[in-house]
Amino acid sequence: MMQSVTDARDDGSAMNSDAIIDAIGGFTSSAPNLKLLLRATVELLHQQRPYYHWVGIYFLEGEALILGPYVGKPSPHTRIPLQQGICGAAASTGETLIVDDVNADPRYLACSLETRSEIVVPIRYQGRVLGEIDIDSDELAAFAQEDRQLLEAIASLLAEKIGAESTVP
Ligand code: SME
Repeated sequence: MMQSVTDARDDGSAMNSDAIIDAIGGFTSSAPNLKLLLRATVELLHQQRPYYHWVGIYFLEGEALILGPYVGKPSPHTRIPLQQGICGAAASTGETLIVDDVNADPRYLACSLETRSEIVVPIRYQGRVLGEIDIDSDELAAFAQEDRQLLEAIASLLAEKIGAESTVP
C-alpha cells in the first residue's frame, strides 16, 4: 500500500525538523568542503522525508540556474533560464514557491511523469539569490508550511557557506 503524506510525517521513524536542521548545521562545520556538504544535505532530506522523491540544488550563474547535487531520477533540466519553469520563477522573485499540482501550472518544466507537486526554496545571501533547493513529490499537494519552514532554515544554513565561498577575500 502506498504510504500517505500524513503517514510519512507521523510514523515516528523520521527525524523531526529540528533534528534535521541540527544535523545539517553540524555538516556545515564538519563537511570537508561545500560539495560534500551539499551532497550530505540532499541525501539526508531524501532519506528523512519519503515524499521528497527528487531533491536537488541549483546554482544561479548569470541568467540561468545550473543543476548541482541531486538525488532521484536524472533530470533533463540541468540548465534553466531564469525566465523559465517554477525554478526560474522562485529564483526571480527570491521567494519560496509551492505548487500543489504541477500539471495545473503552465510554468512547470517536467522532470518526471510521476511528479505531482513541487517546492522551490531560494538560497539567499546578503539580499542576493545564489541558488535554490528544489524538491519534487509524486504526491499531490505534498508540501505544507512545515516543509517550507524546514527548507527555509536549511537554505539559510547553506547560504552562509555558499556565500562565504563565492565572496572574493
Ligand atoms: N520542475 C522544475 C524543473 C526542474 S525539475 O523538477 C528537476 C521547474 O518547473 O522549474
